Amino acid sequence: MTSLTASHAADLVAALLFILSLAGLSQHHTSRAGVVYGIAGMVLALVATVVVAAQSISAGAVTLIVLAMALGAAIGLWRARRVEMTQMPELIAVLHSFVGLAAVLVGWNSYLEVEAHGADQTRIGDDLLGIHHAEVFIGIFIGAVTFTGSIVAFLKLSARIKSRPLMLPGKNALNIGALAAFVALTVWFTISPNLPLMIAVTVLALALGWHLVASIGGGDMPVVVSMLNSYSGWAAAAAGFLLDNNLLIVTGALVGSSGAYLSYIMCKAMNRSFFSVIAGGFGIEAPSGGDEEQGEHREVRAAEAAEMLAQARSVIITPGYGMAVAQAQHPVAELTRRLRERGVEVRFGVHPVAGRLPGHMNVLLAEAKVPYDIVLEMDEINDDFADTSVVLVIGANDTVNPAATEDPASPIAGMPVLRVWEAEQVIVFKRSMASGYAGVQNPLFFRENSSMLFGDAKQSVEDILSALGTGGRGDTDPSARQATVASH
Ligand code: TAP
Repeated sequence: MTSLTASHAADLVAALLFILSLAGLSQHHTSRAGVVYGIAGMVLALVATVVVAAQSISAGAVTLIVLAMALGAAIGLWRARRVEMTQMPELIAVLHSFVGLAAVLVGWNSYLEVEAHGADQTRIGDDLLGIHHAEVFIGIFIGAVTFTGSIVAFLKLSARIKSRPLMLPGKNALNIGALAAFVALTVWFTISPNLPLMIAVTVLALALGWHLVASIGGGDMPVVVSMLNSYSGWAAAAAGFLLDNNLLIVTGALVGSSGAYLSYIMCKAMNRSFFSVIAGGFGIEAPSGGDEEQGEHREVRAAEAAEMLAQARSVIITPGYGMAVAQAQHPVAELTRRLRERGVEVRFGVHPVAGRLPGHMNVLLAEAKVPYDIVLEMDEINDDFADTSVVLVIGANDTVNPAATEDPASPIAGMPVLRVWEAEQVIVFKRSMASGYAGVQNPLFFRENSSMLFGDAKQSVEDILSALGTGGRGDTDPSARQATVASH
């Protein structure tokens, strides 16, 4: 078997491993196997690529490639070990930006190579030159959009810039104009390739990627992350065409199509238009409402909250990003256990985009050994709030915001939310009156039946546990029954 045939066989096996990986990642119980298949496929692909490259390049060049791979692997391992779970989406966004940048560099390299040596001296040949130029342009365009889009996503997800949507005047016309300009430039470049056009398409795509993601509000960021995942796949596929690498084309297409499908599923779950989100919030008007307060809120202390819980018949806990930040899942699990021992029915209501990752809350609750059967999805529990004594909103905000259902001008209008306000009493655990990730104030905080329990969520839950003591129903400090009304 020649090394070329061996490399084609390795490509095929690697592609199959990537398909198995995607299949594994679609279910909780097979996800570990999915990751292992993915790692195996990638190792095989890298080894095969280096072995084939070594046939036609110098030993020094091979050494440089291996050194670069070792350096990249070391940095990747170091970052993956240090990253907090709450920082995962921003890490993913940075990794997508690398794929985009790589596609841009591959495109530029291909163009410069043909310019320097002539098409007949490269594997492209004169016949395919027009197609090659179109590939260069498309690859650079997708790569540059992915690059800057992912950087803006990183900045928003890490709170380095505000998550509110950028609303430039005529933003939809700007996006459509940029797309039309890209098509015109591609035709021009295919007929008459030149350096100024290369620079023009790169700058245009960098600006478009920035604008597309900057125009999308914080509440839609989960969809943006999966959409950029899809873009990064198409960017990789485009680079595969330029490098004549079949495996890169297959892998890019797998990532591109699975990312697009995930974006579609998320859009449906969040009642968003798929087209609007991929087109940078196309058709969405400037949202109203900021994070200004909307009335008076009521405060409770931990002892008062403990008293309410001790008297409760049923409790639903709705966790959110703040529970992950505070790492409050263990005391929350202990509180659940204690209340259930007292005969209180306790369940969890988990919103599909609570936290910063799909399944974020489920993982934390499982880690704290909360029984699976009391952890319910939003659709399973939403009708039960009206018949619930107390809801504990632990570090959640956007996912319990009634404005999503009641204010058509809200940036999160139409997003399905947990209807916690229908319960008899709601206690909101957070540190301040600050808005949630989408940057909009939450009218829940100002409702008659809501009380704010300010402080770090972990500390607050531990204080409730102390106040509850170890006794039976109603075993709390009676002096704590008077709630404090705070006016603002
Ligand atoms: P958020 O709307 O992000 O609000 C979290 C709340 O937790 C904040 O209001 C914050 O208020 C509070 N908090 C932070 N640290 C805390 C601590 N140590 N102790 C107590 N409270 C703390 O939460 P959510 O309801 O989970 O909504 C998730 C949001 O993220 C949605 O807008 C969603 O679209 C977006 N998003 C989700 C994903 C995925 S896939 N899940 C990915 C990207 C973005 P204070 O600062 O006042 O404490």
